Amino acid sequence: MRIFVSLLKNTNPKIEYYSRFSPSPLSIKQFLDFGRDNACEKTSYMFLRKELPVRLANTMKEVNLLPDNLLSQPSIRLVQKWYMQSFVELLDYENRKPEDPHALNDFLDLLIEIRNRHNDVVPTMAQGVIEYKEKFGFDPFISSNIQYFLDRFYTNRVSFRMLINQHTLLFGNDTNPLHPKHIGSIDPTCSVAEVVSDAYDTAKMLCEKYYLAAPELKIEEFNMKAPDKPIQAVYVPSHLFHMLFELFKNSMRATVELHENSEEGLPPVKAKVTLGKEDLSVKISDRGGGVPLRKIDRLFNYMYSTAPTPSLEPGVVPLAGFGYGLPISRLYARYFQGDLKLYSMEGVGTDAVIYLKALSSESFERLPVFNKSALRHYKTSPEADDWSNPNPMSSRHGDGKEERAPRKDQSERSYNSLEV
Ligand SMILES: Nc1ncnc2c1ncn2[C@@H]1O[C@H](COP(=O)(O)OP(=O)(O)OP(=O)(O)O)[C@@H](O)[C@H]1O
Ligand SMILES: [Mg+2]
Repeated sequence: MRIFVSLLKNTNPKIEYYSRFSPSPLSIKQFLDFGRDNACEKTSYMFLRKELPVRLANTMKEVNLLPDNLLSQPSIRLVQKWYMQSFVELLDYENRKPEDPHALNDFLDLLIEIRNRHNDVVPTMAQGVIEYKEKFGFDPFISSNIQYFLDRFYTNRVSFRMLINQHTLLFGNDTNPLHPKHIGSIDPTCSVAEVVSDAYDTAKMLCEKYYLAAPELKIEEFNMKAPDKPIQAVYVPSHLFHMLFELFKNSMRATVELHENSEEGLPPVKAKVTLGKEDLSVKISDRGGGVPLRKIDRLFNYMYSTAPTPSLEPGVVPLAGFGYGLPISRLYARYFQGDLKLYSMEGVGTDAVIYLKALSSESFERLPVFNKSALRHYKTSPEADDWSNPNPMSSRHGDGKEERAPRKDQSERSYNSLEV
């Protein structure tokens, strides 16, 4: 602990320094162009040795704005320690010339080490929030701040890993022989329908395990640009897979639970992939009974789930239950300027639409910036509602009744499904 405090003292001016820079967002096209044309390791090194500390410092400053009671939770401290350690290790390269015979290799090894160190950030952070809620209960203002913070913190993490993965895949030995055409983690000709099928198959396996049945899939494509050709995206297939897998799990669960005993069997889940001038969209539609409009926004809250407590057996992946599926998927969609929206009709079913940019030159990273506006978010308490409220007892942030209640057992869970 003492070492950590002294480390903090020496490093704080550096965090201040780097947090004054805004992160530099890159587009998928820039990632691709750089990786394609005889990618230069030195150039990547020079960029990352500044950009990675900038991104870390921006998010570390924001972590410090969380309420003291939350910051003092052991899991949050652990996450802070990881960030501090990675930041300090990156500073070693501040003045190390790329011509130094070991600099490039050492840097590559360090990036892999940092990536591994941060593997469990999402479940550990989630654990910290649970610890906090168990001890201090629900406060609408703090909850909305935590929601705001987690969206930014997890986006920062996705971006941090994207940069590390590009560098290690392009210049390290971990190039994937199965995908020789990929540029780092980007597939320049990603067949969207194929990813839809893969995600469906994986979700189907889980669904059949839990319910002994799963709805069928029907895929349609509408390619406005080239009507008879399959739709291809320049995208990170693992991100797309993650989003689709989460949507399929949700649709399957809703469908099976509503129609389990119906004589007509399970209505299929439909996927529609469309390509226009601006948007590449994927809609997943189910007939799982839908969600009332009043609850739609809440579904994107971390910690909101209507699923029963998942099994605690190690190695068992639950179909639902953590409440992270939708919020994290929306982060992925927004990360490259897309979005994820739910349109539901209670009593019938739900359409979930993933919007991606059709052009890789427009898919710029959307990154949180630590500045005065961000600061204001944490400091200003919510103002009184300026619309009449039919039920004065309920809060404008939702009544919180269906928010996932904190549970003692949560620390023992396998959070594999939360990995970003
Ligand atoms: N297609 C859908 N039809 C009906 N309800 C849905 C649908 N998608 C999501 N929901 C509701 O939204 C809640 C939150 O979904 P989300 O995917 O974020 O978490 P989860 O499925 O409960 O847990 P997990 O983190 O394992 O995904 C679900 O518990 C469910 O009540
Ligand atoms: Mg889910």
